[in-house]
Amino acid sequence: MTNNDNLTTRHDAVMLECQAAGSDWRVLPAFLPVPGLGGLAVNAFLLKGTEPVLVDTGLATLGDAFLEALEAEIDLDDLRWIWLSHTDADHIGNLARILERAPRARVVTNFLGMGKMGMLGHDLSRVQLLAPGARLELGDRRLVPLRPPYYDAPETLGFFDTRSGTCFAADSFGALLPEAATPLEGVDADALRDGLVAWSSIDAPWLATADREVLGRTLSSLRRLAPTTLLSGHLPVACQGVERLTALVHDAWCAGPSTGIAPDSLEAVAVALG
Ligand SMILES: [Fe+2]
Ligand SMILES: [Fe+2]
Repeated sequence: MTNNDNLTTRHDAVMLECQAAGSDWRVLPAFLPVPGLGGLAVNAFLLKGTEPVLVDTGLATLGDAFLEALEAEIDLDDLRWIWLSHTDADHIGNLARILERAPRARVVTNFLGMGKMGMLGHDLSRVQLLAPGARLELGDRRLVPLRPPYYDAPETLGFFDTRSGTCFAADSFGALLPEAATPLEGVDADALRDGLVAWSSIDAPWLATADREVLGRTLSSLRRLAPTTLLSGHLPVACQGVERLTALVHDAWCAGPSTGIAPDSLEAVAVALG
């Protein structure tokens, strides 16, 4: 078997058991093997209560298992909101199927997210457009939209839940890990650091050229928010984990010498072509 065969060998994602994510939220976790690199958590989140919210909709390849797990948690007739972090395939995979089964649910996104949904053929009549500065009011709490420290799609919407102090950071803080694990506290420190650096390099390569001071201030602002629980689409749930995770990102991208010039950067291409 060649290296290339190794990289293209198909490994199927698996749905894991639904669990608590801090005080108020539930996580619907999946694990997606990445051949040669371990694997990646692919999480959706659910808030029950008077106005239930589903955050993201999982992988289409896990459609039946995802819907089964979701319907074991909530009657979809009761679902009111689907908060769409962004329109990547690993976040929007089961949106159409859930909308069919959840007649009262509306999709919360911003202008660009709505545009991308339209291009993917989704029903825009179900969109609740969040204007800049708007919040989602849920009666007992509000979800305050925020742009996470790094992301791979400009429509990305994280949030801070004002009642539970939960922060959803979308793709930020994702990490390739050797195996499915939860909670985060059980993950080996070196494996977490290496996996977080590896995934952020792949998912947000612009971090290598980002303004380090600005990124550092963004991470400090997140620490000031002091979330009780940090939810990432691609990491086991982190309770009280904000200091540890922001320090890892800071060490990787805000401190020390530059990580070097990527071979496909314009700088490198211009040098190579003389
Ligand atoms: Fe993404
Ligand atoms: Fe993602």
